[in-house]
Amino acid sequence: MAAKILVTGGTGYIGSHTVVELQKSGYDVVVVDNLSNSNIEVLDNIEKISGIKPTFENFDLADKAKTIDFFERNVGIDAIIHFAASKAVGESVEKPLLYYRNNLVSMMNLLECQLEFDVANIVFSSSCTVYGQPDVLPVTEQTPRKDAESPYGNTKRVNEDILSETIAANSKLKAIALRYFNPFGAHPTALIGELPLGVPQNLVPFITQTAAGLRDEIKVFGDDYNTADGSAVRDYINVVDLAQAHVVAINRLLRGKNKSNYEVFNLGTGNGYSVLEMINGFEAATGVKLNYKIVGRRAGDIEKIWADTTFANEELGWKAEKGLEETLLTAWNWEKKVRGIK
Ligand code: UD1
Repeated sequence: MAAKILVTGGTGYIGSHTVVELQKSGYDVVVVDNLSNSNIEVLDNIEKISGIKPTFENFDLADKAKTIDFFERNVGIDAIIHFAASKAVGESVEKPLLYYRNNLVSMMNLLECQLEFDVANIVFSSSCTVYGQPDVLPVTEQTPRKDAESPYGNTKRVNEDILSETIAANSKLKAIALRYFNPFGAHPTALIGELPLGVPQNLVPFITQTAAGLRDEIKVFGDDYNTADGSAVRDYINVVDLAQAHVVAINRLLRGKNKSNYEVFNLGTGNGYSVLEMINGFEAATGVKLNYKIVGRRAGDIEKIWADTTFANEELGWKAEKGLEETLLTAWNWEKKVRGIK
């Protein structure tokens, strides 16, 4: 019988791509999502890609009674991938309690249910935000974490601690925390992708919405950083490559290949690209010209970060493979599909 994986936040951006990759690998997927930042139609589009509609339940994992009820009715879950979380950095500064409640309480509820219902394995969506602006680049898993710049970033850091301390105290639990760099792009079928509510905060959706005519111009936040062209540098990773790393992490836990009960991996490409390189890359990939304007730095932004991928490459046997321009093209194809542009 196929192993059963609970994907929380499975109708979201990274979650939906991961559901497809799990299904392709033969896993039986159950999705829980409260649809606070995603649409139910995502399930139909997952089915169009994989041929299988995942089992779905709509509830909030911060609700303990509903979470217990779910585990009572869903026996035999072998592992959890926990994506479900609030993720807007700016909103978290305005509503810190919302972020701590959503992101920390759901993590604690899941762990308590894992102990009660004997679900041994969990993969957690962490972020390179836990490194802040590192003193040395590239960033390895041993790079010290820094104080978070936002409540959102702090929830990632505290959730890592909740996870590692709970695992240290309970030998029957095993976890892998995956620290994502900057995910971008969409599925090559253009059936699933990133769909931000309102004005996009992240760079690539802002680029594609500008190309589609929804926004007048891209604001480049700062050209006075200590980088080759002065704009800030990130490690942008294709979302399908990222999704596949989750399948590798699940295989590792279920096959007992983990070296310790709490492991951490950086998921990036090892390459840094500046904001201006992203704009130029989009134009080169799509042939669409972009309006942009240099403005001041955005509060809380770091100057540059990219991953040392050695540990993930060697220990997981996984490597991000897709290039910048091909991925920007998938982001554009998705935006065109959503907006009905030919
Ligand atoms: C942020 C968070 C990260 C989170 C991610 C996803 C921090 C430090 N980083 O990443 O933890 O996982 O969002 O929500 O909190 N930019 C522009 N113009 C724009 C938008 C962005 O120039 O309109 C620039 C930014 O200044 C930055 C780069 O593009 O240099 C990438 O920005 P963004 O996509 O928002 O991601 P991060 O801030 O790196």
